[in-house]
This record gives sequence, structure tokens and C-alpha cells, in this order.
Amino acid sequence: MNSVLTIPEAMVRLRDGECIGMPTETVYGLAADITLPKAIDKIFQIKQRPFFDPLIVHIGNEAQLHTVAASLPPLAQKLANKFWPGPLTMILPKHSEVNSKITSGLPSVGVRMPNHPLTLQLLKNYGKPLAAPSANLFGHTSPTQAQHVIKEFSGRVPVLDGGPCLIGVESTVVGFNDNFTSIFIYRPGAITFEMLNEFAPVERKENPAAPGQLKHHYMPPVPLVVLSRQKYLDESTYEQLSTQLNCHPLRPNFIKLSDDAVTAARELYSHMRDAAQERENINCLIINYDFASRQTGLWESLSDRLTKAARLIL
Ligand code: TXA
Ligand code: MG
Repeated sequence: MNSVLTIPEAMVRLRDGECIGMPTETVYGLAADITLPKAIDKIFQIKQRPFFDPLIVHIGNEAQLHTVAASLPPLAQKLANKFWPGPLTMILPKHSEVNSKITSGLPSVGVRMPNHPLTLQLLKNYGKPLAAPSANLFGHTSPTQAQHVIKEFSGRVPVLDGGPCLIGVESTVVGFNDNFTSIFIYRPGAITFEMLNEFAPVERKENPAAPGQLKHHYMPPVPLVVLSRQKYLDESTYEQLSTQLNCHPLRPNFIKLSDDAVTAARELYSHMRDAAQERENINCLIINYDFASRQTGLWESLSDRLTKAARLIL
């Protein structure tokens, strides 16, 4: 099977009820036509994703928004004007036509307009919104390159190759209070707390769609250890890790992140994948990361992902 698709080929696959890998500015998505129930089922099968975790619907223009959301309150409209196309997912009242499997039976739907030229073109030409979670097996690290998607699903999922993702971490997911006067951040991302706070009061909240169920997520295939308080792996830490991870001997690989948040976000997931490549020779990944100084701006999303991806934080 030819794994890399052109836009017309991608459209044929989607019409046939198949899933495709789709580039976005954040991470690659596993996309399917929202109007074909069997295609939506395939997303969950391919990802081995539980049905309780709802999917994000991707739109190519505002006209498509009105086919999936029942309304667009003024605060949401302002955020759409400012941040779309871009890495912001809004939880909005669901349109009755939307398949409830997409929303896990919730009365709300997660929507975003991704900022990637190929995918915007695809969405506009195809003429219908596409449901797409990140194109990785459930609980694993998200893909930021077409090759990651091809490897993740052993070549079974063809991909529209849009190059490496510019942002590299998943979109900010926001919800609202009942009268749409304040914003809840359920997942931090490149649209930051500070940026949203220009529009309304913002609170960080646990996602009601997945309360406490997704404490571990974004995990690489070998355990990740974050050294948050010390720079070096001294002998006693080495012994401790070896015991706690049950790795004898411990064969670590080290991940080095940029000090610049934009570069660090862009590279985090591909570094995690690359470092875990030689799986026969290594049995743990180690990264130095100072959480204390990295709780604002884009760093907040990296801190969030590393906390969930880590097996151990020392
Ligand atoms: O950047 C992204 O958002 C990527 C690209 C492909 O767009 N997609 C992505 O999808 O990260 P996924 O499925 O891996 O994460 C979507 C998150 C999930 O945590 C899900 O619980 C939440 O969005 N979500 C979706 N619909 C929701 C809803 N109606 N209510 C609450 N949370 C929702
Ligand atoms: Mg995901």
C-alpha cells in the first residue's frame, strides 16, 4: 500500500469510510468523516481508544462550525475570531446531527479549525468536518511527523504528509461556565492561560469528560524519568531507578530539550520517539526538567505533558 496520499486520494479514502493520517500545526490526527458511523468506529478500533474519551471535530471554515455546534455564544465567537485557525479546541453545545459516538454521549462537542495549509485545503475541498484524535495508540506519545503515524500503525494508515508539526503539542482544550462568561482550561497548549485571560477570567480545571482517568498519557514505549531537582544521575539515583523500574542493569538514554519553549515544544515528542528507538539497547529515558520555573506560557503545556508521560519524577 502506498502510505503517502495526495489531497484527492485522501478524499477518496475518507468517502470510502477509511481513516487517514492528517497533518495539523499541533500533532498529526487520525481523521474520519463525521457523517459515516463506521468510519468513526474505525478511529476507536485503530487507536484502541475507549469510547468514553470524546473526539475533536475539525472544521475548515465557520460555515462548517454551524453544522456541528448548536450555538456560538459571543465569548466563543471572540476566541474563534482571534485564535482560529489555530491550536484552540472549544467545547461547545452539540448540534443534534452530530453522531453521539464522537462526543461519547455528551451534550457538548469539541471543535477546532487547525492551522495547516494542506489540511485546511482538504477540509474545504471535502466539504465536511472531520473527527480526529491524535494519530497514536491510546495513551502513547502523539505523532509530529508523517513517518511517526506510518510506524505507529505499521503502515496500515495512509497519511497526508504535511511535514513536521510546527507547534508539537496538542491544542489547548477549553470549556466555559454555564453563561459563557468565564473560560476553563482542560488541557494547556500553545494558546496559553495568559492569552485567554485577555478575553475573560480563566480557571484551570479537570476535564469533566475524563475525570481522573487519564493521569498517564503521552507515554513513550520505554519508561520516562524526569529529573526535576538534580542535574546529574549520581550513583545512588542510578541504584534507586534500577530498583524502582526493575531494570538490571539500567541502560538509560538521555533527552536534551531546548531552553527555548517554542523549540522545546516542537521537539519534545520527536525526541521522545527517537530516544526510544533503540529499544533493545535501552530500557529507560531520562530528561532534566525544572517544573518549578516552568509553570507559565507555553512551558505550562510541556510541564503538563511531561508530568503525564513520566513513569517517575525525582
Ligand atoms: O491538537 C489537537 O487537539 C490534536 C489534533 C489532531 O487536532 N488532537 C487531539 O485529540 O489531541 P485527542 O483526542 O488526542 O485529544 C482530545 C481531547 C481529549 O482529552 C478529550 O477528552 C477532549 O479533547 N474532548 C473532546 N471532546 C470533548 C468534549 N465534548 N468535552 C470535553 N472534552 C472533550
Ligand atoms: Mg491524544
